[in-house]
Amino acid sequence: MKVVYPGTFDPVTVGHIDIIKRAVSLFGDIHIAVAESTPKQPLFSGERRVELVKCSIAEAGIGGDITVEAFHGLLVDHMKKIGATVFIRGLRALSDFEYEFQLQLMNRRLAPGITGIYMMPSESNIYLSSTLVKEIARHGGDISRLVLPCVRRALEESVNDG
Ligand code: COA
Repeated sequence: MKVVYPGTFDPVTVGHIDIIKRAVSLFGDIHIAVAESTPKQPLFSGERRVELVKCSIAEAGIGGDITVEAFHGLLVDHMKKIGATVFIRGLRALSDFEYEFQLQLMNRRLAPGITGIYMMPSESNIYLSSTLVKEIARHGGDISRLVLPCVRRALEESVNDG
């Protein structure tokens, strides 16, 4: 079974890494799909977000067969292209539920064979988000426990570049 973990990952945080670890231990291999088409206005380019996911996985010491690549267009089309029928998502708090419900049902309507499954992150990551991490970095706060070192460096560089 080919399992996809899609997201914007702008940037990847320890919350995403937590889900990746859980998914790898359950499924053995996963395919991380970094969305180029997103309603968000990402700080990092798709290519850079892919690099940051890869270096975070390496720094977190996660083994297994993990593919990371960017995709354009609809998630369901990307999944069909690579022959995947299952995607996983993290579910943090009640506030995620409505959006994830919409995402699941709309994807199912677009491609009836596709199913999303949901995982709870660790308690310590429940209130984490990429937006908060970027905001803390922008104001010079300590993000060392929220992202892996390569992402911390990338955020510091982007703050210094103005
Ligand atoms: N722990 C802590 N935080 C987590 C987390 C976890 N386990 N999992 C997610 N988050 C946070 C992220 O940091 C992010 O924070 P932000 O909103 O401040 O950026 C937020 O939760 C969710 O982001 P992410 O996991 O990167 O995914 P997303 O919701 O941006 O991804 C796509 C959405 C890419 C899956 C969706 O837009 C998509 O499929 N796009 C392709 C186009 C498409 O098919 N559209 C139609 C969909 S029906």
